[in-house]
Formats: sequence, C-alpha cells, structure tokens
Amino acid sequence: MEGLLRLRLALVFSVVTLLSLLVRSSSLSSPELQIVNAERRIDLTSHIVRVYLTLKVENAGTSPASEILLAFPPTQVDHIALVKAAATVGKKKKKSYLPLDVNPTDLPDGPNGTKYLSIALSSPLGMGESVTLEVFYTLTHSLEPFPVEISQSESQLVYYHDSAIILSPYHVKQQITFIKTPSTKVESFTRVEPTDRAGMELKYGPYNDRPPYSFSPVIVHFENNNPFAVVEELVREVEISHWGSLQITEHYKLVHAGARHKGIFSRVEYQSKPSFSGVSSFKHLLANLPPRVHSVYYRDEIGNISSSHLRTDSRKSEMEIEPRYPLFGGWKATFIIGYGLPLQDFLFESPDGRRYLNFSFGCPLAETVVDKLTIKVVLPEGSKNPSAVVPFPVEQHLEISYSYLDIVGRTVVVLEKTNVVPEHNSPFQVYYDFNQIFMLAEPLMLASVFFLFFMACVAYLHVDLSIRK
Ligand SMILES: *[C@@H]1O[C@H](CO)[C@@H](O)[C@H](O)[C@H]1NC(C)=O
Ligand SMILES: *[C@@H]1O[C@H](CO)[C@@H](O)[C@H](O)[C@H]1NC(C)=O
Ligand SMILES: *[C@@H]1O[C@H](CO)[C@@H](O)[C@H](O)[C@H]1NC(C)=O
Repeated sequence: MEGLLRLRLALVFSVVTLLSLLVRSSSLSSPELQIVNAERRIDLTSHIVRVYLTLKVENAGTSPASEILLAFPPTQVDHIALVKAAATVGKKKKKSYLPLDVNPTDLPDGPNGTKYLSIALSSPLGMGESVTLEVFYTLTHSLEPFPVEISQSESQLVYYHDSAIILSPYHVKQQITFIKTPSTKVESFTRVEPTDRAGMELKYGPYNDRPPYSFSPVIVHFENNNPFAVVEELVREVEISHWGSLQITEHYKLVHAGARHKGIFSRVEYQSKPSFSGVSSFKHLLANLPPRVHSVYYRDEIGNISSSHLRTDSRKSEMEIEPRYPLFGGWKATFIIGYGLPLQDFLFESPDGRRYLNFSFGCPLAETVVDKLTIKVVLPEGSKNPSAVVPFPVEQHLEISYSYLDIVGRTVVVLEKTNVVPEHNSPFQVYYDFNQIFMLAEPLMLASVFFLFFMACVAYLHVDLSIRK
C-alpha cells in the first residue's frame, strides 16, 4: 500500500518536473525571433574598436518578445567597454532613435561559452511584427601587435580577430560585414567567400540563411600607427570650494600599449625623419578641457613641463601636452595635470534646494582607454547626504579627507570604473546638502589662528620682558 503511494507520488512528481521543463524550454525559445537583415560595420581605424550593428528582428513565433539577445564570444566579452542600443522609429526622413536598456542576463552560457547581453524592448514585439535596432559597442585591448617588437623605423602591424558571420542566438536570413582599416596597408585577411577588399574596406558577405550560433573565425593583419594611448590608472580629484572655484588635479599613469620598442632610441633620426621614424610613437597628447579653464599646469616627477599649449574658445579648451621624450611601445609616463574652473559653470541648485555638481566623467585625453578610473569629488566642509548620479554602473563609496583649516574634514565621493573609453565622457552629478553657516567656518578658523598667534606673541614678549627686568 505504502509502496504504491510512493510510486504514485514519484510518478506525479516526475510528470510535474517534465512539464515544468517543457514549459521552461518553450518559454526560453518561445518568442521565435529571427534576424531578417543584419549589417555590421567594424571600425579599426583607432586602437579602440568600434562596432555599429543594424539588426532587423522579426517575431516569427506566437508569443510576444520583450527582449532581444546579443551574443558575444567569450574572448570578446571582457573587452567590451560600452554597449548602446536604440530602436529606430519612423520611416526614412522622419527617422528617430529610441534608446533602449542593455543589461547582463542570468542566462547560462550558450554553445562554446557564448555570453549574452539583453536589450529590453520598450514594448513587446508581437507575432509577425518586426523592429529595427541600432547597436553600438566598443572593444578595448582587442588589437594585438604582431610583430610584438618593432624598431624605431618600422610601422606597427596588428591582428584583429572576429567572426565573418555575426554570432547570434537567432537564425540570420541575410547579413553583411564591413571592416574599415586605417590605411590600405593590409598584410593579410581570412577569406570566407564572398569576401572583397577595396581601398580601406573589407567586405564579408552577403551571407544568407545562417543558423543560430554560426561562427566563422577571421583574422585581419593590418597597419595601425595610431598612438595606443592607455592610461593604466587615472585619479581625478575635483575639489569644490564655495569660495568660487573648482580645482581639478589629475594623476596619470600612461603607457604606449602598442608593439614594444626594440633597439636604441635615436633622437637625431627621430627629429630628422619625422615622417617615418617612430610613426607609432606619441609626440604629443591632446587634452580636451572645459572652456574658461585657468591656472593650468602640467608636471611630472622632475617638475613643471612648459611645453604645453593651451587654446581656448567659448565652447572648449584644448591643451596640447608634449612629454619630455616621445613615447614608444611599452614606454610609460607618469604626470599630473591641474587646472581651475569657475564654480558657477558646474555647481547648481536643484529645485528641492540641494546643491549639485554637474561635471564630465571619463578622461580628458583624446582617444584614450583608461584601465582604471577613480574620480574623487571633494565636497566643501559641512556637506551632508551626498549622492551621485552616473549614467552607467560605477563603484561608489565615501571617504573623509582633511586639509589645513578643516575642523570636521571633507566628505569625498569616490567613483570607480574600469575599462573607460571616450564614449564615457558624459555628464554626471553629485548632489549634497550644505548649510550656509559652514561658509563662516574657514574665516573663523583663520581669525582664531591669527588671534592665538597674536596672543602667543604677546605672551612671549611679555615673558621676555619680565625676564629682562
Ligand atoms: C564550437 O567550437 C568548435 C571549434 O571552434 C566548432 O567546431 C563548433 O562548431 C562550435 N560549436 C558550436 C555549437 O558553435
Ligand atoms: C608649476 O607651475 C604651477 C602653476 O604654474 C605652480 O603653481 C607651481 O609652483 C610650479 N611648480 C614647480 C615645481 O615649479
Ligand atoms: C549637465 O550639463 C550638461 C551639459 O554639460 C547638460 O546637458 C545637462 O542637462 C546638465 N545636467 C543637469 C542635471 O543639470
């Protein structure tokens, strides 16, 4: 009797499991999406790889779809610095873009370790409907110098690895990929017919009817003499003083991440044949600073470097800085840039009476990858309840810093992010409460210090006199 019950229970249980499995697997694959048309443009002209993907996705299933998955090979996913997606709304002339959220998923990895990101649609895609998506992503550290070492007179060659066929969990009806190189100097490239090359462009495809997870590895070997400017670590300190200025101090650890320099460096050759000697080295760097910048300095361990030029207009300031020596592959430079900015350009009051700083995230150096960025916003003494608003995920914590004349110390909002590209140079805000009474703290401190000093002098003179008597 009991045995029978157990058997029955087990049976019921396994049927339930089976059913739930069925339901689960059908819910995973139920929105039968397919890509009707895909176009991918890979821009390899810089050391930061930029990919523009246009996908026309159709729901060929019966249940509505609320998300669309992007797939990446495991070797690529760690190099993704930023992904943006938008849906195209309207027809040709009245076309506009509706930004969509892109999030990591908790889906298990796909075949061969495929990783996914999920694009959340603003409204579910119904049966038979289609949507056109524009996806943009950047990859860092994805061009591999080969040869790994070059001499001063050689050009820099690099490898780029990808797939001729767009990796996707969906069936792709029609697709094409264009790869743009910085020059016409392409040593070699893998052919996956049809493959074409014209000028600075390689064309893979069109390919028709590729099943999900199709993959066809390609390698492009080409010349890229762009400065591979990587800041291994950047600490930007933004100090707010309610006395009218914003003081910025930036600590850079810069490395040339291209092919390592081989042999000795000849300055004579470098200066006499600038067009082909050290073509991949940095001669100067460009820092894009806000307009109305003042008290700019640039120094390294040795001292101030005067070879910097500042051009300002009403919209921006450009500072061209020249390191003490040109930077070749593998060479490093550590330096500091400092500047002041008028407070009223960056500090505002929100409707609820809180103050906020509105400043630019990212790195002021043009076309630079920052492996690790730390932004420290030093709030005025007496600030309370700080909160930061950044348009992408960052690590946040608070610190206290003391400078002279501080009584309770200043709250420092610390924001940290790895793998930062120029596309991260967007505004962020730090809100805080501030009591005006603290404006008096510093002058009061100063006054009392002078007073104590004065008293000490009087006392000293008094003692002195009394001894002499
Ligand atoms: C996984 O990778 C291997 C080797 O690269 C390849 O032959 C195979 O087709 C891939 N499998 C899938 C499902 O993509
Ligand atoms: C460097 O220049 C800055 C600003 O011009 C100045 O304040 C600082 O004292 C200088 N430092 C040295 C070591 O010369
Ligand atoms: C921050 O500044 C940018 C321009 O630099 C502006 O477009 C944006 O609206 C500002 N944000 C806030 C919250 O004030």
